[in-house]
Amino acid sequence: MRLGVCYYPEHWPEPLWKEDAARMKALGIGQVRIAEFAWSRIEPSPGEFDWGWLDRAIDTLGAAGLEVVMCTPTATPPKWLIDRHPDILPVGADGRTRAFGSRRHYDFSSPAYFEASKAICEAIASRYGRHPAVAYWQTDNEYGCHQTVVSYSPAALARFREWLAARYGSIDALNRAWGTVFWSMEYRCFDEIDAPVGTVTEAHPSHRLDYRRFASSEVKRYNRMQVDVIRQHSPGRPIAHNFMQLFTEFDHYKVADDLDVAAWDSYPLGALEEQWYDPEVKAKYLRTGHPDFASFNHDLYRGMSKLPFWVMEQQPGPVNWAKWNPAPLPGMVRLWSWEAFAHGAGCVSYFRWRQAPFAQEQMHAGLNTPDNQLDVGGSEAERVAQEIRAIADAGVDADGNIDTPVALVFDYEAKWLFEVQPQGADFHYPRFAVEYYSALRALGFDVDIVPAHAPLDRYKLIVVPPLPVVPDALVRQLENTRAHVVIGPRTGSKTADLQIPGNLPPGALASLIPVRVWRVESMRPNVNSRVTFSGSAPQGQARHWRDLLDVDSSSESRESMQIRAVFSDGHPAYVKHGAMHYLASLFDDASTQALFARIAHEAGLAPAYLDDSIRVSRRGALTWVFNYGPQTHQLSADIPNDAFVVGSRDIEPQGVAAYRTTGATGTTSTPHTTAR
Ligand code: GAL
Repeated sequence: MRLGVCYYPEHWPEPLWKEDAARMKALGIGQVRIAEFAWSRIEPSPGEFDWGWLDRAIDTLGAAGLEVVMCTPTATPPKWLIDRHPDILPVGADGRTRAFGSRRHYDFSSPAYFEASKAICEAIASRYGRHPAVAYWQTDNEYGCHQTVVSYSPAALARFREWLAARYGSIDALNRAWGTVFWSMEYRCFDEIDAPVGTVTEAHPSHRLDYRRFASSEVKRYNRMQVDVIRQHSPGRPIAHNFMQLFTEFDHYKVADDLDVAAWDSYPLGALEEQWYDPEVKAKYLRTGHPDFASFNHDLYRGMSKLPFWVMEQQPGPVNWAKWNPAPLPGMVRLWSWEAFAHGAGCVSYFRWRQAPFAQEQMHAGLNTPDNQLDVGGSEAERVAQEIRAIADAGVDADGNIDTPVALVFDYEAKWLFEVQPQGADFHYPRFAVEYYSALRALGFDVDIVPAHAPLDRYKLIVVPPLPVVPDALVRQLENTRAHVVIGPRTGSKTADLQIPGNLPPGALASLIPVRVWRVESMRPNVNSRVTFSGSAPQGQARHWRDLLDVDSSSESRESMQIRAVFSDGHPAYVKHGAMHYLASLFDDASTQALFARIAHEAGLAPAYLDDSIRVSRRGALTWVFNYGPQTHQLSADIPNDAFVVGSRDIEPQGVAAYRTTGATGTTSTPHTTAR
């Protein structure tokens, strides 16, 4: 458990660096990330490098006992490079080339940019690859930020055609897979295929989905190039990339495969404001962030990281980029930091050391104010550093892995497919995945978020939010699992080519749960359908979507088939067959939670029922409790006083407590929490 900070020596007078480094060290910071936007200072003119300042900055940090996280500066190609190669600039769906003057103004497919990036990576990695102060690397910065994954440039089109040729082998195969006979869209060769934009009405959905897949693979190719260069010059130093919160424009599992550390940038208040949450939810968690949002990302990135994941940028105070930018409540920077560690983070690094008085982010807080006074976030980071030391001194295992019994499958292609073919305007895949996750967290479970190809044998409960394309390997795993499996609506509804499966949805999953989705309908936000559940929570609401199911009523399957909920018109809303549970709709939060609790019991797990502002996580020998709410929360008297290593039984608003978990590690025991 280490703390870091993002630092921009090029923004500050050199005489300040030494003092900054000493203050960082004194505060308890160990890692300092630098240079991700510094290309124009490193190479002010083509081929003319100015290494002096960067050498001195790294030496200064190293001399203070800090480890440097060295970045490649490719998120900000300098003006001279753009003027030399204007084709580096990406092209929007409107056909307009995006301009120089901010950042991320490059096209992943531009050959000129690929070469220029490789050259600057070579220059930096060969200069600092073995520098004693450089301990880690970061490639680029936030791939895809500001909607820059998909570009409609001529370079992207040329590479898309090659990608299609490699995927389909022949144009006939492509015509068949896409079904281009529809509307006379048949192609005679790959060179006839354009980018799927500018059409009179909806462009062909398979064409659009493939364009997204292609764009995603371009990110992987580009990152891989940087990783290869760094590994060659800096063997043994871990390489990270800082992904974004719930960003879904490329397949992160595939990019992370080439990295050592999956890091992500956590801005809980900005995220709450910018995401789908209802106005009441935004108001309720205005200054704390939603209790499950950062956690979802922690659990997602933990799963794809070879070494412990990092929070590379942690919100330190108000940000500048959301529609409204409230200040976090006192205590939240500390709470967010501990929450990251409680989910397995190896480092929490704050963005940024000092608020910049100039340029685009002058309204964004840092650990220090522009006049160099420690800000609230800075004091809270200092407190976290002291607590980390205290835990280490007490010799408690605070970062060992735990045996997580619940898995949630999260898939990037699902997001693209539902975006290409939503069928209902608010069918927003990430939202549904987070809602399922939230229901599990409210029941006190630790959750692993995994790709559809992950091994699943160690879980007792596997939750699959709507997953349109179900890989064969997943079907085989589910055939062999002893876990209970919850399957969301629209699962198995498409083939990989975006066609309706021959046996109708859920396609190959029908071998596990004999149902046939013969019709679907989407529902307006103000139209819910009443659902009657068997069991304890009898009434609920179906939202967004309905799969209308034919249930196999042959005698063999009737035995183990239960209709556990029906819509008001009598159609099945939830059916169970063996340990498979198929949900034909998205239910209101309370119903989802009640249903997951019932299934968890059946899976041999013991759900807890937490207040909506209380969350629990286990790590190593510790159980962590986080209080997002406005009232003090009192933990059960069963926990001995001397078990607490952070906080105490009374958890103040925005407070944190950690206690030694007695007995075996594992996550099935009820967290001892009672609301006061
Ligand atoms: C991130 C980005 C940083 C900074 C920060 C502000 O998206 O990586 O460079 O812009 O947001 O919150």
